[in-house]
Amino acid sequence: MTTLPKPRQPELKTSLPGPKTAAIMERDAQHLSTSYMRPYPFVPDHGEGVWLTDVDGNTMLDFFAGIAVSTTGHAHPHVVKAVQEQVTRFTHVCLTDYPQEITTSLAERMVKHVEKPGEKWRVFFGNSGAEAVEAAVKLARNHTGRSHIISTIGSFHGRTYGAITLTGSKTKYKRGFGPLLPNVSHVPYPNPFRPPLGATAGTCGQAVIDHIEGLFQTIIPADEVAAIIIEPMQGEGGYIVPPADFLPKLRSLCDRHGIMLIFDEVQAGMGRSGKMYSFQHFDGQNGMNCQPDIITVAKGIASGMPISAMLAKESVMTWPVGSHGSTYGGNPVAAAAAHATLDLLEGVVKHSGCGDSLMENAAQVGEFIMAELKAMQAEFPFIGDVRGAGMFIGLEFVTPDGRPDGKLRDAASMAMFERGLLNLDCGEAVIRISPPLILTREEAATGLEIMRDALRALK
Ligand SMILES: Cc1ncc(COP(=O)(O)O)c(C=O)c1O
Repeated sequence: MTTLPKPRQPELKTSLPGPKTAAIMERDAQHLSTSYMRPYPFVPDHGEGVWLTDVDGNTMLDFFAGIAVSTTGHAHPHVVKAVQEQVTRFTHVCLTDYPQEITTSLAERMVKHVEKPGEKWRVFFGNSGAEAVEAAVKLARNHTGRSHIISTIGSFHGRTYGAITLTGSKTKYKRGFGPLLPNVSHVPYPNPFRPPLGATAGTCGQAVIDHIEGLFQTIIPADEVAAIIIEPMQGEGGYIVPPADFLPKLRSLCDRHGIMLIFDEVQAGMGRSGKMYSFQHFDGQNGMNCQPDIITVAKGIASGMPISAMLAKESVMTWPVGSHGSTYGGNPVAAAAAHATLDLLEGVVKHSGCGDSLMENAAQVGEFIMAELKAMQAEFPFIGDVRGAGMFIGLEFVTPDGRPDGKLRDAASMAMFERGLLNLDCGEAVIRISPPLILTREEAATGLEIMRDALRALK
């Protein structure tokens, strides 16, 4: 009888934090910005695939991918090679003034995933998610000649002035920074687990639409609204998937009033949900359309190299020459990493053990993780909800009477970390599971076993 090799496990060689980690954290606390949070004592030294090793030699399984960024895992050979090759050619010229083939072909490649017959899209490149969001809002205002922007409660759009104004998840992002951008309003996000506006899981999408129409009658003139910006699946706010009818209804509302619809795909996009863009789970379903006018992407686009993109329909990208730009945006080294990442996401280059493409792997292994987590709810009644799509999965902790239990979530998150599973919280009481998309079913099972063990220890 042959025995299968035991799957790789986290390896903790010291107690956490180890001595080198503690020493660096001490220096970090002395010299870096006081705004940085340090929830887990972990200082990375190197990574390989879904594994990260700290400076003390402790190896952890990565279930958060640097906040949904390291799509292809750590130090993927195909990405490393692409970056190395580009570095030896040239590292910067400035895309605002000179074209470069590597970004031209990247734009051509990215729009293919969104263009429909008879439609043409264009791309603006930046360096971060917030910059893509700023570009989207500037474009919407410039194109429509209107100023008001509607965003959602629970949203996260970044840390620049425009982006924090749009953000609606935590007041700490805004406290002490005002005055913020004028003419921004927030409406509820249709969360089926905690439906707003007195609605139910099934009616909360329509309730939010009715709420916005109500605002147009009473507070905000619809013909002064430039855009509605929304995450098609809400990230920082708690990994929330809206009801299937909501985004198509929002599309219709925008059409009725000449409003630009911006989908912020920074966290859920680039294959994480099992499709290139998360809105594509709803577009075309039951004959309903929710193609936006503008899309923002960043994070998973280039496996950790800093690059972001704002994609817009050609009919919308009407801002004049010189009106917007960036010194580093569309940097060729980051663009090379984005090409290599897309190779793996699309399956032009295969990653062993991950089927035809990383997007397919995200869908299949994500479905396995969700099914296992849902099964765990029977043993752990404090897991109130398991939701998501692909490898964009949220696990909400609740009190016995169903309220969000942030304290229990924090304890669970730390218990998982102490057992060698890197994870991250979001929302009021949610752990987000956003691993590298190269995670295999076996590695997922290892992570789930660690989670189970940590949750049992809580009981
Ligand atoms: C949906 C969304 N938009 C925008 C941002 C901002 O991205 P960045 O931190 O790269 O500026 C984030 C970051 O978490 C995000 O999740």
